[in-house]
Amino acid sequence: MSTAVTYHEATKYHPETIGQGGALDWSLQPVPYKEYDCSEPVELSDFLPFDPNPFTGRPADDDAHAHQQGVPSLAALSRLIFYTYGVTGVVPSEPRHLLLRACPSAGGLYPAECYLIVRDWPDLAPGLYGYDPTRHRLVPLWPGVEIADAAAEACYGNAAVLAAPAMLVITGVFRRSSWRYGERAYRRILLDSGHLLANATLAAHALGLRATLTAAFCDERLNTLLRVDADEEGALALVTIHGPGPVERPTWSALPSPTTSSASEPPLLDALHQASVLPSERPRQVPHGEDQADDLENRYGLRGGVPLPIPPQTSALTSAPLDAILRRRSTRRYRRGTMTATQLARILAYAYHPDALGLGDQPAFDRNLLMTFVAVLAVDGLAAGVYYYAPHSNELRLLKAECAREAVQFLCLGQEIGGDATAVVFHTADLARAVRRQGERAYRYLHLDAGMLGERLDLAALADGLGASGIGGFFDDRVTDLLGIPAEQAVVYITTIGVPAAAAPANDD
Ligand SMILES: Cc1cc2nc3c(=O)[nH]c(=O)nc-3n(C[C@H](O)[C@H](O)[C@H](O)COP(=O)(O)O)c2cc1C
Repeated sequence: MSTAVTYHEATKYHPETIGQGGALDWSLQPVPYKEYDCSEPVELSDFLPFDPNPFTGRPADDDAHAHQQGVPSLAALSRLIFYTYGVTGVVPSEPRHLLLRACPSAGGLYPAECYLIVRDWPDLAPGLYGYDPTRHRLVPLWPGVEIADAAAEACYGNAAVLAAPAMLVITGVFRRSSWRYGERAYRRILLDSGHLLANATLAAHALGLRATLTAAFCDERLNTLLRVDADEEGALALVTIHGPGPVERPTWSALPSPTTSSASEPPLLDALHQASVLPSERPRQVPHGEDQADDLENRYGLRGGVPLPIPPQTSALTSAPLDAILRRRSTRRYRRGTMTATQLARILAYAYHPDALGLGDQPAFDRNLLMTFVAVLAVDGLAAGVYYYAPHSNELRLLKAECAREAVQFLCLGQEIGGDATAVVFHTADLARAVRRQGERAYRYLHLDAGMLGERLDLAALADGLGASGIGGFFDDRVTDLLGIPAEQAVVYITTIGVPAAAAPANDD
């Protein structure tokens, strides 16, 4: 069995064994950000258009409000990083406040870390910087344009990285999440990072900049140039940032790693992370073909279904995407209201066809590896049941009539946001097949892509006046038997959508 399949099997939650880990000692929680000691940081907070500025307490000056769209500047970078992973909420608490970030994070543990590499950006010396979210500032870590050259080399000469005047590198600090979630943390670290990446590419588009993504790099080279301790922290993805205009697209953003097999003994997280690294020589890109989604759509004979035309009417996510990110919070409780089929169509379209709704061409890694199923619980104009969502034809194809709220809640480890939702999206993949295509690294691509879809679903639901929350903990095997989803589909992630308990009463059951 491949290491990814072994890992996935070994980290499944089962009703018989869940909760045997004992109570958590929160005093042992690792600090969820890097604490930099720096005498000459690059301050970014003055560029934010908030009154008063949450970092300085000062009113925003005219320059902060008069942002120039599509101009590569320090102000643009300040916003890009803020709307990607900045602190957008503070929950007072001891021994330190909980800093809520622009993207959600399983358990609020924020295992992702953000670095900036500058080749040629106004008002910034070339080099490597760390991001300090507590003050919204950059900390110079290593000077020199060679860092950007080395990053391009680590990405096998990827044209977009070679041309990028600046880039963000996202890493995962494993213990921040494994401290709580044990071996299963790797799944959540990747999902969190996917949410973060979706913010980055959405924000870039909203600011008139261009961004591309890649997760195809030689791990050892990239980690070495970041100077991270590779046992503790590893690079997961790179976002290139460019001024407006056409951008050299990456020829590849996903490349296959070798396939290995490993014993199902700890440390599993480490074993999978190591097994999914890419070597110093560029692997050959996997051609599209055999595994295209259209083929997958045909596999279960799910032809024909309910067409979900992309609604012509957009939501606030199109007119004010940055605002949507700023206001985003995961919904904690739903009441049993309904949503309309048009709302569901719009939310799915924002995730799967963002360009059609004005969000630009949002990149992905290898999204054809994912299949989407939707448990429809309370959608006006759509019969309750479990549907397969065909992204290309934009159709919902009925897999199983009826869908019990209790079953969905049970699958979500008994969490009420599962049972009280109006619709629950299951991001799944035929894992063995994905590994045959992209090697062990498929596991990373699948979870990063699912996280990105999750972020756009969340933002789209919230912008439509609904609520949303990701769910990273579920009884894996029971999803397939209770919902009728084909058994070879491994569940990667769940997104719940519903009517927030606090919202005005409308569309009640
Ligand atoms: C990968 C992932 C898994 C999550 N799983 C759950 C979950 O199982 N239950 C839940 O209530 N919230 C879940 N959340 C939401 C987080 O609890 C939430 O993002 C975090 O507390 C920060 O709050 P915010 O999203 O409102 O900023 C998840 C979020 C992510 C990104």
